[in-house]
Amino acid sequence: MVQGTGRYRLRGRVLRPARRAGWQYIANRGRPAGRRSEPGRHPAAYSRLAIHPANHAPRLPTSADQRRVSGSMANAANAAIELTHLHFHWPRQQQACIDIPDFTVAAGERVFLHGPSGAGKSTLLGLLGGVATPQRGAIRLLGTDITRLPDAGRNRFRADHIGFIFQQFNLLPWLSALDNAMLPCTFSVRRRQRAGDPGAQARRLFAQLDLSPDLWNRPASELSVGQQQRVAAARALIGRPEILIADEPTSALDAPRQQAFTELLLAEAGAVDAALLFVSHDERLATHFDRSVALADINRSARERS
Ligand SMILES: Nc1ncnc2c1ncn2[C@@H]1O[C@H](COP(=O)(O)OP(=O)(O)O)[C@@H](O)[C@H]1O
Ligand SMILES: [Mg+2]
Repeated sequence: MVQGTGRYRLRGRVLRPARRAGWQYIANRGRPAGRRSEPGRHPAAYSRLAIHPANHAPRLPTSADQRRVSGSMANAANAAIELTHLHFHWPRQQQACIDIPDFTVAAGERVFLHGPSGAGKSTLLGLLGGVATPQRGAIRLLGTDITRLPDAGRNRFRADHIGFIFQQFNLLPWLSALDNAMLPCTFSVRRRQRAGDPGAQARRLFAQLDLSPDLWNRPASELSVGQQQRVAAARALIGRPEILIADEPTSALDAPRQQAFTELLLAEAGAVDAALLFVSHDERLATHFDRSVALADINRSARERS
């Protein structure tokens, strides 16, 4: 299944880590099986589909509640995410997009990060996910500075420790809901071991996410947006990664569904004691979280732009 440096074979297709989107499907670029959820989408778009690890587990008694009380004062000893002097600018751009002197998320802490469109939220998440590299500064995740890892090491770290929910979910359309949810366990031995029985855990997550069993073996391309979103959440939670990152995961949902999905994600993150960084421009969701942070308050360049 693993093909040397960071490549994987899956259902006869070859995947490799992609710079921005996590995983790139690089062989057999033909039209994926199954109907398309977006009929007008060009087949080439599928070459940039991202597969990100995801996860879950039973509620464990933790000290997370205590840590959350002092979340904003998290120190290196219990930090899940620790940024120092982080500086990133896009190629051919003079102005920095990210200029963060310091920012920390404690283990088990659930943080709501908000800011206007274009403020740099997705860029920051890309840096945390290791799909973009800063020009300066440190990104310490669970004590490891991922900026010092080689590409393959960063991809491995991401697969092992980070569950990522993308705004557009980025499911593989030709794979069933179950196979999509279990993908992180294909890429990461650690996630597979932590999941125990990946199939059983995926099914349990689907049940908790209220995804009807008759959908479990359907290709992702045949699922509604709301159903795809729940598959993406299960993929992020499977194998209990210590860090969960969600980039505007509720943007495609109506208000009541947004609320329900956010509460579910918070409960699941709490159940596995994962640090959750949830990004949205909708500040109404902030009340559900341990801490709410405006990107402009931590990112000097967003402050300058606004
Ligand atoms: N691939 C890219 N190349 C160059 N500039 C980019 C790229 N992606 C985003 N940007 C720029 O970075 C800034 C922040 O974008 P983004 O992180 O997507 O903001 P947000 O997620 O807060 O809406 C914007 O000015 C955007 O134009
Ligand atoms: Mg964005």
